[in-house]
Amino acid sequence: MTDFRKSVVYQIYPKSFYDTNGDGLGDLRGVIEKLDYIKELGVDYIWLTPFYISPQRDNGYDIADYYHVDPRYGTMEDFEELAAEAKKRGIRLMLDMVFNHTSTEHEWFQKALQGDPKYKDYYIFKKGKEPGVPPTNWESKFGGNAWEYVEDLDEYYLHLFDVTQADLNWENPQVRKEVQEIIKFWIGKGAGGFRFDVVNLISKGEFKDDYEGDGRRFYTDGPKIHEYLRELNEATFGTDAELVTVGEMSSTTLENCYHYAGEDGKELSMVFSFHHLKVDFMGNEKWVIVPFDFQKLKDIIFDWQVKMAEHKAWNAVFWCNHDQPRVVSRFGNVKNYWKESAKMLGTVVHCLRGTPYIYQGEELGMTNPGFTRIEQYKDVESRNHFRILQEKGLSEENAYQILQIHSRDNSRTPMQWDETKNAGFTTGDPWIEVTKNHSYINAKAELEDPDSIFQHYKKLVQLRKDYDIIAYGDIEPLDQKNPSVFAYRRTYQGEEMYVINNFYGKEVTWKADKDLTEFCVLLSNYQDTMIHGNQVTLRPYESIVLHKK
Ligand code: GLC
Ligand code: CA
Repeated sequence: MTDFRKSVVYQIYPKSFYDTNGDGLGDLRGVIEKLDYIKELGVDYIWLTPFYISPQRDNGYDIADYYHVDPRYGTMEDFEELAAEAKKRGIRLMLDMVFNHTSTEHEWFQKALQGDPKYKDYYIFKKGKEPGVPPTNWESKFGGNAWEYVEDLDEYYLHLFDVTQADLNWENPQVRKEVQEIIKFWIGKGAGGFRFDVVNLISKGEFKDDYEGDGRRFYTDGPKIHEYLRELNEATFGTDAELVTVGEMSSTTLENCYHYAGEDGKELSMVFSFHHLKVDFMGNEKWVIVPFDFQKLKDIIFDWQVKMAEHKAWNAVFWCNHDQPRVVSRFGNVKNYWKESAKMLGTVVHCLRGTPYIYQGEELGMTNPGFTRIEQYKDVESRNHFRILQEKGLSEENAYQILQIHSRDNSRTPMQWDETKNAGFTTGDPWIEVTKNHSYINAKAELEDPDSIFQHYKKLVQLRKDYDIIAYGDIEPLDQKNPSVFAYRRTYQGEEMYVINNFYGKEVTWKADKDLTEFCVLLSNYQDTMIHGNQVTLRPYESIVLHKK
């Protein structure tokens, strides 16, 4: 049995991964063709973001038909072949399930619009407070009010995301049944697990105005969320211990995650939380420019690490996904220490307690593209906020600066396979521009270079397999207040491991509580180490993993 605690997951955003028919969009056949590359990295699972029928307003997170492959991505035969080829290589597929909402083009919603009472009850329709006033003042995560008026019905429907993503009504048992059927269908097609999109938002509480925030407190980790997840688990994936699940938890709390991802396996295998990726926000406001708060980053990560362990719950650990900017641009130093900082960041995450996720191209040290024109941005959230920021009075230049840092498109540029035009991603015109550094940041070059970021990630994946302490050990933060070092200790059955990382470009000396010369160096991002007794001198972005039996 694959133990998800010893596993690493590789996330693929098919649209930007590899295009096999020259239409500029990556496809499922592209994933098949690159399976050997993924195998070379050594990962156990691939998480595939949505490839179902969709108008692509939100790149597939707006599903119009859960049972078919969107022709843009290929056919059901392609999917079946992919599942079979992956299996041959010992890789299992985790499928992305978006059940908080459907596309407004979904047949259910279309019927609801026609006034069919059965399907109206699949969604959340409500009367306005008074003519012209939406039921509540909640804000959509993509900007604007979260309710859309439908004249023919004289009612509003709720959309926590884009106006074409209508929230499903989980109170309706029929909706929950539909969802179960979809999951069972994909298990039958060979899915090895699931990632559940914003799944902690499915249980809506009271529909009240929020005078303190944007409304999220009324639907986040809502009143019936644990009940719904248990029901789903029992009716579908819970019957097969091989199926691994991860929930994307928006603005969640530790207390809820103890249950979502508890060892008893009643809900999910593990959770994504995002608090550690808001350390360059102002509170919940992402569309600002502030330097990242290193102390807060460590405090949050360690708090989750220690408390989830205490409560026997399991984390997904990660820096990157298709909604986040590239980590080396965010917390590393692309200009002067690109390679060192990318490797250091990889080590910090992969030696934590939890299942690590690698987002396509992270293993190459891919960077933000630095787009300078709005036409280069394709993401609905980015485009909306570009407008909203200027409506709030920011200059266009300022709005661009913010997008360059925070836009989700930062991670959605094509995978950089080689140094040729379009980075070897497509022979046609890519749907989104390629980042202009693929002459040296590309898979071909990094597979050949024994010192590359790719090779470092490959070692990290292997370390988790070779050393049980990484998968099963306890974790203890070290010197948590240190202004530049991110250090922790893992312990397991008498073994000990130190993970010591300089997060900045300045040399620093760090003191341990014991003699470090007794330890073996398992991994580092420099040729040698400077260890003297209990002291270690760390060069810019230096990262060292030490182990003692
Ligand atoms: C999740 C997805 C994101 C999507 C949103 C709405 O956060 O990761 O890409 O836009 O849910 O489905
Ligand atoms: Ca294609």
